[in-house]
Amino acid sequence: MNPPLLEIAGLAISYHSDDGMVEALRGVSLAANAGEVVGIVGESGCGKSTLVSALNALLAPNAEVTGGMVALNGRDILRRTQAEQRALRGAEIAMVFQDSMTAFSPVLSIGTQLVDFQHNLPKASRREKLARATEMLARVGIGEPAQCLRRYPHQLSGGMRQRAAMAAALLMSPQILVADEPTTALDVTMEAQILHLLRGLRDEINGAIIIVTHHLGVIGEICDRVYVMYAGQVVEEATVDALYHAPQHPYTRALIGCDPAHLQKRSPTLPTIPGRPPSLVNPPKACAFAPRCTLADATCHSVPPPRVRISASQTALCHKVVR
Ligand SMILES: Nc1ncnc2c1ncn2[C@@H]1O[C@H](COP(=O)(O)OP(=O)(O)O)[C@@H](O)[C@H]1O
Ligand SMILES: [Mg+2]
Repeated sequence: MNPPLLEIAGLAISYHSDDGMVEALRGVSLAANAGEVVGIVGESGCGKSTLVSALNALLAPNAEVTGGMVALNGRDILRRTQAEQRALRGAEIAMVFQDSMTAFSPVLSIGTQLVDFQHNLPKASRREKLARATEMLARVGIGEPAQCLRRYPHQLSGGMRQRAAMAAALLMSPQILVADEPTTALDVTMEAQILHLLRGLRDEINGAIIIVTHHLGVIGEICDRVYVMYAGQVVEEATVDALYHAPQHPYTRALIGCDPAHLQKRSPTLPTIPGRPPSLVNPPKACAFAPRCTLADATCHSVPPPRVRISASQTALCHKVVR
C-alpha cells in the first residue's frame, strides 16, 4: 500500500513561555489520504493551529518539537532545511487562515500578489500568470475578476478577501490545502458560500483538504473523517458518519449535545460544556477531560486513558469506552 499523503505520528510540541513549557501538542497522530477532506475540531486552545502550523513548518519561534514526526509523501518535513521547507510551502501544502488579511500584503494589489504566489511556475510569463489568476478568481466565485485584480486587500469585503485567499492558495496547486477556521470571521451567508466552494474543490485538488474548525456544522457539511482534539491530544478519530451516529468519547458527545439539530445551527462557540479545558502548563497526566466528564471515576482522575480501537476507522482515548 502507498504511504498516506500526510502522516503525523506522536507529534509533541511545546511553547517556551514565562509560566513554563506550554504542552500544546501531546502525542498527536493523524493521517490524510489523497481525495479526503479531513476535519480537526475542538474548543479554542486545544492545539489545532499548532498542529497545522507544524504541517507548513511555520511554527512560532518559541515553539519546540519535542517528539514525533510529520511526513509528507513518506518524507519527514520537520527535519528539512529551511530552504527545503520554503520550497515545500505552496507546492506541497498551502494554507488559508481565518483572517484573510494576513494572506496579503496591504500595499500591493491583489493582481500583483496573485502573480507572486505563482513563483513555483518560473517559466510562465507575467501575462500568463495574470490569466491564471483571473481564471482562478472566477472559479472561486468572484464575479468581476479583472476588477478584483486591480484592488488592494482592504478594498475587498471579508468574504471576497477570503475567496481571493483561497484562489492564492489554489494557484500554487498544492497537494494539501489546509484551511484554519476559514469561515469563523464570516457571516452565515458567506460561510455557506465558502463551504460550497470548498466542497466543489475536493474533486479538483488531487490531494487532501484539511479543515480546522470549532464549528461542528462545518465538519458535517464537508468532511469525510474527523479528529476531535482536547487539551493537545486527539481524543477521538472517526468518520463523520460515526461521529454523528455513534460518537464514543464523552467530549465528542458533549460537543454534539443530545440534539443532532445542534450540528446545523451556527453558534460562535461550541455548545457549552461546563468548565474549561485545563492549562497546558503541566497538564494532567490522567484524563484531561475527567474534571468536566459526567462519567469520570477515580481511575479517570489518576490513570492515563487507553486509546481504544472501536473499528478500523474509529478510536477513542477513554477509560469508559468499551469496544
Ligand atoms: N506562540 C505561543 N506561545 C505560547 N503559547 C502558545 C503560543 N501559541 C499558542 N500557544 C498556546 O498553545 C495552546 C494551543 O494553542 P492553539 O494551537 O492556538 O490552539 P487552537 O488553535 O485549538 O485554539 C494554547 O494553550 C495556547 O495558549
Ligand atoms: Mg486556532
